Amino acid sequence: MSLHIVILAAGQGKRMNSALPKVLQPLGDRPLLRHVVETAQALDPAAIHVVYGHGGERVQQALTDMPVNWVYQAEQLGTGHAVGQAMDHVPDDARVLVLYGDVPLVRANTLSNLVAAADNGALALLTVVLADPTGYGRIVRDDNNRVQRIVEERDADAGERHIQETNTGLLCAGAAALRDWLSRLTDDNDQGEYYLTDCVALAAADGAPVTAGQAATEAETQGINNKLDLARAERLFQRRQADALMAAGLTLRDPARFDLRGALRAGRDSEIDVGVVVEGQVTLGDNVVIGPHVVLKNCAIDDDTRIEAHSVIEGATIGRRCAIGPFARLRPDTHVADRAKIGNFVETKKTRLGEASKINHLSYVGDAEVGAGVNIGAGVITCNYDGANKHITRIGDDAFIGSDCQLVAPVSVGAGATIGAGSTVTKDAPAGALTLSRVRQSTVTGWRRPTKQA
Ligand code: UD1
Ligand code: MG
Repeated sequence: MSLHIVILAAGQGKRMNSALPKVLQPLGDRPLLRHVVETAQALDPAAIHVVYGHGGERVQQALTDMPVNWVYQAEQLGTGHAVGQAMDHVPDDARVLVLYGDVPLVRANTLSNLVAAADNGALALLTVVLADPTGYGRIVRDDNNRVQRIVEERDADAGERHIQETNTGLLCAGAAALRDWLSRLTDDNDQGEYYLTDCVALAAADGAPVTAGQAATEAETQGINNKLDLARAERLFQRRQADALMAAGLTLRDPARFDLRGALRAGRDSEIDVGVVVEGQVTLGDNVVIGPHVVLKNCAIDDDTRIEAHSVIEGATIGRRCAIGPFARLRPDTHVADRAKIGNFVETKKTRLGEASKINHLSYVGDAEVGAGVNIGAGVITCNYDGANKHITRIGDDAFIGSDCQLVAPVSVGAGATIGAGSTVTKDAPAGALTLSRVRQSTVTGWRRPTKQA
């Protein structure tokens, strides 16, 4: 029996108070809907149908790389109507699993159990017992504890509102039966909508078994309706990622103060301090130490390297046994070889820094090829931009650039050259020699400071 997954994502999400459609709100920097589709893919279904409406093309554009069948629901007439739109694409002998675009934390394992429970013509519901069931549909059972129907809060009487077992919205049933129940729905309720949940009463009346399974954790089934829910889900999601990383050998000084918005691969015994944000694709080798409040984005950092506090590393590769920061900023296309050092208030961009070279203080080095064993003094600037074009600075192995120099590109400094402090270098400096371009120091003897006039 093939599995078809229908994801409801047409709602506007008014309570989000946002220009962005609800299902595109970010969780770990990926749209909510993307999380749901990824989990759906893990079940290896015959097809994934996404019912969309609000946000239209924007929703489709956010998922262009995902193999889903888009079903347009022009008017949001209710969850039952929404599922009905997708049923044209589902064969009678399939099993249908309904997911919500705004319930992103559900696990594939929970869904497999739900699908298995829909055996033998059963309507399988995923329910959750909540201390505070406010806002959710309640599961109404008969005296024999059999599920009879679901009542929405706004349609429930006082007694029903006390029921703590609630509907997560996720369910699974055979396509033929579901199609039949959907065709019999009415909009006779407080919202005047076609409720998917009314299928339960129809199934019960037909004598079809209705099962209610519970999710392993309450967090999995949390729906997201506003930014408070979104923030809560973000923390749950982050904790889940943190737990998986720690299980794989990463040390997190405080898993509650760690944010991964992408994918992180880390070797053994690497350690991440508090307040670190990891974005995009990041790789850490073994024994890498990331200090507090560092931002790592699309970068690779090799074994035994330390990134000190408040550094921002983006689009860079860093070798072994390097020391970076605190307060360093490595911009895209920075490549740092083994044992190199980049210190505080240093910015680099499109730069190769050779083995064991140092830029320790207050520098800008951009569009540069720096050899091995080079020492770049405090306050050195590569003047790479002439107002129209960028130019390259080349510095040979073992060169020494004194403090407060400007290297006006295009320019080269030869291997083993020394540039005297305070120089503005506009012409190539030869290898092995001392080059200076500063005004000679002079002293005026007999000069006196002016005195204040009476
Ligand atoms: C729904 C359930 C409720 C359950 C709750 C769990 C119904 C009638 N109620 O209520 O029992 O406790 O979810 O979160 O199903 N959508 C469409 N098209 C529509 C209407 C909705 O695609 O015409 C989508 C929404 O975008 C959303 C999902 O369906 O992703 C649920 O709709 P929503 O309006 O949030 O339903 P709830 O009132 O939360
Ligand atoms: Mg909802």
